Amino acid sequence: MFAGEDIVKREINTREDVSLLVHTFYGKIRKDEVLGPIFNGVIKDWDNHLEKMVDFWESNLLYVRKYFGNPMLSHISADRKTNYGIESKHFGLWLNLWYQTLDDYFEGSTAQLARDRARMMSTNLFLAIFRSRPKEVYS
Ligand code: HEM
Repeated sequence: MFAGEDIVKREINTREDVSLLVHTFYGKIRKDEVLGPIFNGVIKDWDNHLEKMVDFWESNLLYVRKYFGNPMLSHISADRKTNYGIESKHFGLWLNLWYQTLDDYFEGSTAQLARDRARMMSTNLFLAIFRSRPKEVYS
């Protein structure tokens, strides 16, 4: 978003709203200096990933049953693929872009839920990554 651009904020009520959130957010992730190379290194099929992430957030925020994956295992595997390179600072940067996207485009209670859920998940995901590392790596 550019300064002065007039965006009418919307509530998150439909899959289309979730899709706007997810696509805008991953647009930022892919361009981010620090996060971009990690995501682009692991994810080979972005269309598939984005579809999956829309399912994930639609399931989380709008209470439909579309996502059946296991985020803990996916992140443990992504950490291995990046040579145990995912750190708590990456979760901080991730959350910052998530909040920025929500602040710029959305309003209302479901947008707040999206902030709160992501914050809780980030702690759980990082802990899962950390605990599954071999002792000699840990860090
Ligand atoms: C609260 C923060 C985060 C949430 C809610 C989240 C959520 C998710 C979900 C639901 C998936 C799909 C899992 C599946 O395959 O079913 C995923 C995949 C992935 N996430 Fe995250 N994530 C978060 C933070 C991060 C961070 C900080 C990184 C790395 C720096 C990261 C890297 C990845 C990668 C590389 C994949 C793709 C894994 C693969 O396809 O093999 N995520 N994430």
